Amino acid sequence: MRPEDLVHFCPPGRLIIGCGARHQLPELLARLGYRRGVLVTDSFFTGHTPWVGEYREAARRHGIDTLVYDGGLPDPTTTLCDEATASVRERLAGAAPDHVIALGGGSNIDLAKALSLTLPEGRPIAAFTGDIGGCRPLPLIALPTTAGTGSEATPGAILLDPANATKIAVMDNELRPRIALIDPEFTYTCPPRVTADAGIDAFTHAIESFLTLDSARFERGGNPDPGYTGRSALTMLFARESMRLCFAWMERAYQLGDDTEARIGMAYASLYAALSYGSAGLNAVHGIAYAVAGQTHKSHGSTNAVMLPYVLDALCDSRRSEMLEIAALMGLTGETPEHTARQVPVAVREMIGRLDIPTDLRRFGIAREQLDALCADALGVTRLAKAMPVEDVEGTYRRIIDNAWEGRLSGCR
Ligand SMILES: NC(=O)c1ccc[n+]([C@@H]2O[C@H](COP(=O)([O-])OP(=O)(O)OC[C@H]3O[C@@H](n4cnc5c(N)ncnc54)[C@H](O)[C@@H]3O)[C@@H](O)[C@H]2O)c1
Repeated sequence: MRPEDLVHFCPPGRLIIGCGARHQLPELLARLGYRRGVLVTDSFFTGHTPWVGEYREAARRHGIDTLVYDGGLPDPTTTLCDEATASVRERLAGAAPDHVIALGGGSNIDLAKALSLTLPEGRPIAAFTGDIGGCRPLPLIALPTTAGTGSEATPGAILLDPANATKIAVMDNELRPRIALIDPEFTYTCPPRVTADAGIDAFTHAIESFLTLDSARFERGGNPDPGYTGRSALTMLFARESMRLCFAWMERAYQLGDDTEARIGMAYASLYAALSYGSAGLNAVHGIAYAVAGQTHKSHGSTNAVMLPYVLDALCDSRRSEMLEIAALMGLTGETPEHTARQVPVAVREMIGRLDIPTDLRRFGIAREQLDALCADALGVTRLAKAMPVEDVEGTYRRIIDNAWEGRLSGCR
């Protein structure tokens, strides 16, 4: 408990977790009265797993018709969303779906979130960016197959805008899934690269939201139903447990993909991270990573990872006691509290290196001449810049980016 907290916590409507939990879904949806669904996925799941066919058949036995759209792609664009809207509406031939199911990683879940808004009337997704204007999306059921993004518990969909190569967010608490069903068995087929990139994404969500702006200081812009509201004792509970699970299982899941305990551990780590950041929000790691992704088109997890140690380094003074808590979770000790705190970014960078992700911007493919534009783009994501808990956000972003390019951490001097 922290007396000053102002909690506005929005989890998904139902959370169902467990190995094999997917088999419960058709009966549950029938009981909730659903009759016609659109399942959004990609060709890996229709071509290489039995899950889509099995679900569709079981749902049919429960009186539910399901139209499958398997055109999902990594990092969906607004163009893909508009094309999918037109294609699914044509195939529905006037029939109105009463729910949308997402099967896949964050990309398919985000596409499904966007489609839950566009399918009813066929409007372009651009009509919903910024503010969904009181529109009621179709109920969404999210079945994550990676342990990373936590999109099954967040209010946003992230889409690439091909016009200017930046990521845009469609955000509203109405977009949170009605049901998030986490069946860790879905993640067993993830290849090592997807496992590592997703895992570090989950860890970034946990640690970044653990250190972010306090709920009492968070600017809600007069919104009575804000998606993100800063950290509270409640979000920090989930963040702590998520970090603990990541330290225990992330590298093991990457190295030994058939270790089911590691897979289950990371499924929980990802969800707990989402229950933290899905209300607390994020700041500079994601803010700068969006700009890095715009310039490099590398995966979401790896763009977060390359920035994470340098943002942590910048928070060592303003978040000293939290940094010491993380050091204890990692088993780090130093000569003084300051020295111990400054070991956290160093140890996190070593962990990222063990996941075979480049640990500075230069090796990530960014040229020195791109740094000014990178900084301007990152500061342009104002909702994240405003949540960075430091006095001089602009100067801090600049220092973080320079340090990330040089590979400079204060704990290494
Ligand atoms: N809305 C949010 O809250 C939120 C948060 C974080 C990230 N995101 C978005 O999520 C996306 C990244 O998602 P991701 O990291 O889950 O990866 P992804 O969804 O982009 O998937 C990457 C690849 O892995 C494959 N894959 C996924 N699950 C698999 C499995 N079980 N077995 C085999 N292959 C599998 C996919 O088919 C795809 O080819 C980015 O677009 C990012 O912007 C959204």
